[in-house]
Amino acid sequence: MGLQVRQLSYALGAEIIGVDIRKPLDDQSFSELHNAFLQYCVILIRGQRLTQDQHIAFTMRFGKVRPKPTEHLEASEREINTVNSPVNSAQIWHSDGSMTLIPTAASLLRGVELPQVGGDTMFANMYLAYEALSEGMKKLIDGLDGVYFGTKGGRFEERPPAHAHPLVKVHPETRRKSLYIGEKVKQIAGMTAEESKPVLQFLCDHAARPQFCYRHQWRNDDLLVWDNRCTNHIAVGDYDRTKIRHMERTNVTGTQSGYVYHDPL
Ligand code: CO
Repeated sequence: MGLQVRQLSYALGAEIIGVDIRKPLDDQSFSELHNAFLQYCVILIRGQRLTQDQHIAFTMRFGKVRPKPTEHLEASEREINTVNSPVNSAQIWHSDGSMTLIPTAASLLRGVELPQVGGDTMFANMYLAYEALSEGMKKLIDGLDGVYFGTKGGRFEERPPAHAHPLVKVHPETRRKSLYIGEKVKQIAGMTAEESKPVLQFLCDHAARPQFCYRHQWRNDDLLVWDNRCTNHIAVGDYDRTKIRHMERTNVTGTQSGYVYHDPL
């Protein structure tokens, strides 16, 4: 088919041109698209007015669709998340699924109806963030784990136990090292919160530097696919809340990198 790839920023992101995923992609085209996904970490395909079934079918090319942790729903409702105005937890830098033991590998978000201005999503390339650290800092954090404290979902849900993920991860497909940090990391395993804070604060600020970022201004029917194993993102909460911002998302299950953390202190 011969896809065209247009870089969106120096750090990450590429638009894939000449592809219509409403029809099944042949293996050669998907492999080109998937290579761009691995290389640029975020891919954009414009003009995709997908049905939910088409969205799910395309998601399945990337791996196993991660269902919502809710039962009693129709099949498509379990797999498609409707996002009406980003929740507060999306308005900080994070990687999807970091609050679980098995984080999300890829997220596929489609803009259905967007406000006139604002409501952008920003992405950061965590390979670059890691590579730009000094050798001393790399040595310090390699082998350390970041601790996440579970939050209660609903009124009757129990607070899940704390868990930890490595601060530096090796991508299972590209084998490149990247930083795995976000504002949801509250502590470094084996250290007090107070000791951890300056290092975590530095890493979070460092990873969000503009030279590692791409800011996406949504158009209706944009589909973005991002790799949570080497990127962070944030929903910018700067739009008129009386206007509609309607999106649909699916998630691809990743591999386990977390473990339940018992504070030894
Ligand atoms: Co997110």
